[in-house]
Amino acid sequence: MTDGDFDVLILGAGSGGYACALRAAQLGLTVGLVEKGNLGGTCLHVGCIPTKALLHAAEVADSARDASKFGVSATLDGIDMAGVNSYKDGVVARLFKGLTGLIKSRGITVIEGEGRVTGPRTVTVGAATYTGKSLVLASGSYSKSLPGLELDGERVISSEHALKLDRVPASVIVLGGGVIGCEFASVWASFGAKVTILEALPRLVAAEDAASSKALERAFRKRKIDFRTSTPFQSVKTTDSGVAVTVEGGDVIEAELLLVAVGRGPSTDGLGYEEQGIAMERGFVLADERGRTNVEGVFAVGDIVPGLQLAHRGFQQGIFVAEEIAGLDPKPIDEAGIPRVTYSHPEIASVGLDEATAREQYGDDITTITYDLGGNGKSQILQTAGFVKLVGLKDGPVLGVHMVGDRVGELIGEAQLIYSWEAHADDVAPLIHAHPTQNEALGEAHLALAGKALHAHS
Ligand code: NAI
Repeated sequence: MTDGDFDVLILGAGSGGYACALRAAQLGLTVGLVEKGNLGGTCLHVGCIPTKALLHAAEVADSARDASKFGVSATLDGIDMAGVNSYKDGVVARLFKGLTGLIKSRGITVIEGEGRVTGPRTVTVGAATYTGKSLVLASGSYSKSLPGLELDGERVISSEHALKLDRVPASVIVLGGGVIGCEFASVWASFGAKVTILEALPRLVAAEDAASSKALERAFRKRKIDFRTSTPFQSVKTTDSGVAVTVEGGDVIEAELLLVAVGRGPSTDGLGYEEQGIAMERGFVLADERGRTNVEGVFAVGDIVPGLQLAHRGFQQGIFVAEEIAGLDPKPIDEAGIPRVTYSHPEIASVGLDEATAREQYGDDITTITYDLGGNGKSQILQTAGFVKLVGLKDGPVLGVHMVGDRVGELIGEAQLIYSWEAHADDVAPLIHAHPTQNEALGEAHLALAGKALHAHS
């Protein structure tokens, strides 16, 4: 006898877990969803949603500061962090209420508390024990730090602490020039803080195409965001007024705060996975292309599975696993087809292969074109600079789309369809893009790749 037996038992109600629950319930399966925090997990409460709300507030601040560029008289008098936080928290609260209602309406049993895998497809929560015909592990991730670098939540903070700040710091050192580092650097610079990014690798957002890194670096330089690449962190001391960071080579940089953004680790410690014989690597749970672990009936989705740690990857994996369990034989997910967006000012968006990876795989059969947003009417109206770069296979499909510029994140949908449907430039070139939109830049880039550039020199 247990306290509950389900068709599908899910550990963790973040993007991966709750998407799996919703789809499984839709397919007529009974679902138990174990969560120790709030439904929605990192993405809704301390990740995607609140950070993008901050970035939107930052955009409003920039609009006020730059209003005279557009002939509008306005001044930026300051940032009221209480007001910013109340706007941000309001967005989260509304979405949380909606999600809670949705989960309830699908008849999913939510089990509150910290779960631990204690037997085959069995999870213990406090004194209660639950089983599933299938068990889905979806326990998510946490903000990592470096050995000897302790997050005190005051001077040395993670992105979660940063979301709760009640003030705009005068100066910040951002450790890590990846997605989180660049997004927070962007917010704080817009809010008027002096920002320095420290990055060990030779460029910011190193997972992106080299051209995107270069464009972001140029834009950040213009915005007076200081960044030091090829500059590994060495140590930090807290001082009376903040922090003093020493980097390799001996330079010391001081600021009010240090944000640590050196990646996210899988939340799998102490959850009983290894004890149940589930194959793991560096704390991640190994799952095959069907979401299966090595243990019969146990699946894994989201940030605990090696690969891109993105909410929308988790959603899709969750849906996939629910359908797999229901016997629908879904099509495996192509990791390269997962769209990636960094919501800094300017934004970076990409899907598919970057040029270097494509050249490694296809050698000289690769062709690229870059369409500058300078030729795109709407981008000029918005006063944003950037580009659309296509990586294509000669006489073959588009293998990668890379974009930089304000609002280009909203263009990634079409780029993703082009990539995922293996479209050739000739397939896209005749499609009409509304004028004037930034979307036209994608159309123009494909015209150019098809050898019939319109608003570009060929
Ligand atoms: P990340 O892996 O993107 O970047 C971490 C950076 O820190 C790397 O560039 C790394 O070289 C650097 N670093 C590591 N150790 C260092 C050292 N000792 N000294 C100097 N630099 C060092 O991880 P990040 O930005 O923390 O993000 C975590 C995850 O969350 C990522 O997978 C990211 O994709 C995801 N995320 C996605 C967002 C989006 O899609 N817009 C937003 C925020 C996070």
